[in-house]
Amino acid sequence: MNPPAPDPQHEARHEARAFVNPAAEAPARPYAAHGARSLTQTGFDAALAEISSWPGYAPTPLLPLPGLARQLGLGQLLYKDEGGRFGLGSFKALGGAYAVANVLRHAVMAARGLARVGSRDLLSGAYADVVGRATVTCATDGNHGRSVAWGAQLFGCRCVIFVHQHVSQGRRDAIARYGAEVREVRGNYDDAVRHAAATAAAEGWSVVSDTSYPGYRDIPLDVMHGYGVMAAEVAQQLAGSPPPTHVFAQAGVGALAAAVCASFWLHWGERRPRFVVVEPIAADCVYRSLQAGRPAVVEGALDTVMAGLACGEVSDLAWEVLHGGTNVAVAVADAYALQAMRVLAAPVAGDRPVVAGETGGVGLAALLAAQQHPALRQALALDAHSRVLLLGSEGDTDPVIYRQVVGRSAAEVLA
Ligand SMILES: Cc1ncc(COP(=O)(O)O)c(C=O)c1O
Repeated sequence: MNPPAPDPQHEARHEARAFVNPAAEAPARPYAAHGARSLTQTGFDAALAEISSWPGYAPTPLLPLPGLARQLGLGQLLYKDEGGRFGLGSFKALGGAYAVANVLRHAVMAARGLARVGSRDLLSGAYADVVGRATVTCATDGNHGRSVAWGAQLFGCRCVIFVHQHVSQGRRDAIARYGAEVREVRGNYDDAVRHAAATAAAEGWSVVSDTSYPGYRDIPLDVMHGYGVMAAEVAQQLAGSPPPTHVFAQAGVGALAAAVCASFWLHWGERRPRFVVVEPIAADCVYRSLQAGRPAVVEGALDTVMAGLACGEVSDLAWEVLHGGTNVAVAVADAYALQAMRVLAAPVAGDRPVVAGETGGVGLAALLAAQQHPALRQALALDAHSRVLLLGSEGDTDPVIYRQVVGRSAAEVLA
């Protein structure tokens, strides 16, 4: 965490800005009074009940990092480490696979005239004939597609995943390992989303997207309720302790951030943490939408090392929560995301090492940026009493890139 030499080129690489959301709801405003009605406690509870019944389920750790907290001038720093989630390397395992299960459960209920089918019934193989006729598909930056492919393999249907040109070979291979067919689409993530939708319509496949758009909400809503498992675990892990004062959530299309925001709002009410959304400078669609007061599109290549956040359009469902649920939006340069990976891998005294991929440590990237940009720290209202929760959304989901950035493999970091 050495401060950079003050030369203009370096300054540009260490760009960071914050926007304090004037439309943020007052703490006392209940979730029910806010306009977002789609994400519900019932939906979160149903997802937790299903997902926690899957083989291999275990809550991911909530790691205290007291040494780093001291160094950053904070009271407490907690890191929810999703690197081990179902062996897939990211929180995304929760959402896509849960939505696949629901698509297949509904297909079986319709085909057999049943009132209820659970994911355990699918796993039993009793409906393999119905499930085997289904194909699920989506566009992905890597992690969501991996989750959909894993869900398809777990429950026994076919899967085709669309990736854009910038998705690394490592991430494509990881999807293919779950038996999915991987197809490349020219353009960026949003082009791949449109291509997946058009192909599915022509072929009669089910799109399992993590982003919603007009007329397409039910499946992304399942995805988001699945992500809520992460927030429910945090609430459980902090039972008996005061809630964090701040949560830093990284945003691509905003589904993760919105799910966590809604879940904490429902759980902690007016004691809920200040909610901070963090994005890459090159793909800051939530930031710009909050500035504009309505969804705004970021065009272009959306070129950033934060692969999971290279999205130019906020999801409709996410926007419904985030426009009033976000207190501060932060946009950071890639340099901070890379620095965050290295800082977590080489911990200060008293902390344990943490493996975070390019998109996983982005909350810390914002904290590191706040060290160098006093205006950012002020906008975030951070001080020595702050109890900060970071969503460590992925481990080394691309081990080759991880080693290039950190200089060691995940196993070496943890040894
Ligand atoms: C590791 C990781 N973290 C965060 C995100 C952002 O999630 P969302 O697109 O729901 O905002 C993604 C998206 O792919 C991701 O892969």
